[in-house]
Amino acid sequence: MKVAFFGTKSYDRGAFNDANAAHRHAIHYLEPRLTLDTAPLAGGFEAVCSFVNDHIDAEVVARLKRGGTRLVALRCAGFNHVDLAACRAASIEVVRVPAYSPHAVAEHAVALMLALNRKTHRAYNRVREGNFALDGLAGFDMFGKTAGVIGTGKIGACVVRLLDGFGCRVLAHDVAANPECVAAGARYVQPPELLGECDIITLHCPLLPSTRHIVNAESLARVKRGMMLINTSRGGLLDTRAVIEALKSGQVGYLGIDVYEEEEGMFFEDQSATGIRDDVLARLTTFPNVIVTGHQAFLTVEALANIAATTLANISCFERGEVCENRVAFKD
Ligand code: NAI
Repeated sequence: MKVAFFGTKSYDRGAFNDANAAHRHAIHYLEPRLTLDTAPLAGGFEAVCSFVNDHIDAEVVARLKRGGTRLVALRCAGFNHVDLAACRAASIEVVRVPAYSPHAVAEHAVALMLALNRKTHRAYNRVREGNFALDGLAGFDMFGKTAGVIGTGKIGACVVRLLDGFGCRVLAHDVAANPECVAAGARYVQPPELLGECDIITLHCPLLPSTRHIVNAESLARVKRGMMLINTSRGGLLDTRAVIEALKSGQVGYLGIDVYEEEEGMFFEDQSATGIRDDVLARLTTFPNVIVTGHQAFLTVEALANIAATTLANISCFERGEVCENRVAFKD
């Protein structure tokens, strides 16, 4: 099948070329991400392969439809950036990669916790300048601390097991309890208890209308003073401006984020020559107790190989005219 592959990075091309030996699709790698301006590049391609920060709204869908696109193959799990109703109206099928390595994201969340706690980012810079002083670098034992996991699906369940390994007391919240997490020692509680008791809170639920800004001024007022907040899910879960106020007041003691609500068009690109143009993100990077990574939690060689294998298998399935198990269903 002819595939227009948007937003290509060198690591994508390597993994997809390897996996494509088993599928032999005609992949046309394009550097720009998919926007209304670049959608015409998909003209004549039945399949479009897209990543998290493409913006597939109704206008883009209409443009893709005119160009003959019949399939949008997302090489990611989340699909909050796709207008599914518009795709359905245009008879464009949407498939995704529901799981490629929950371990990759879970381990990155824990990496952020440990780096913030032990101030590894600050120690790294000090040592490079020949400063071996330890003042200000004291951390805390993870053992015995209370950690809260919001969203206990595939990634959240891995995080629960990792935190249990540290000897943390784990509280969990989800719309449906996951027996794996209960077996790993997590106790399900309602948000007020989780907010009030946790030293660390980590978010692993999807971005939905019901979860947008679940961390806001009101919820931050209820957290334990000086707590650590981790978000590797979607930027829109946090009201970033409210988090900045909480960092300024000391209500939030540490923040680790891999995602940012305005990341579209900024993350995944080298902005070093121009600097950070987004003032809110720029403010965040001035705090010594904040670590921002650029949506890299998924980026392990295992995850890249799984993403490529599943995306290409999804496209092959569509090509054969079968109903793909990874089809994104539109719900009214
Ligand atoms: P999943 O679908 O397995 O689990 C999500 C869980 O969130 C489910 O158990 C669901 O019941 C729960 N949930 C839904 N609404 C909720 C609410 N209002 N309150 C509490 N829990 C709620 O998804 P998975 O694979 O664990 O991924 C989680 C999120 O991680 C994805 O939605 C995506 O946004 C993000 N992600 C980030 C990546 C990165 O590189 N930073 C890579 C992959 C995923």
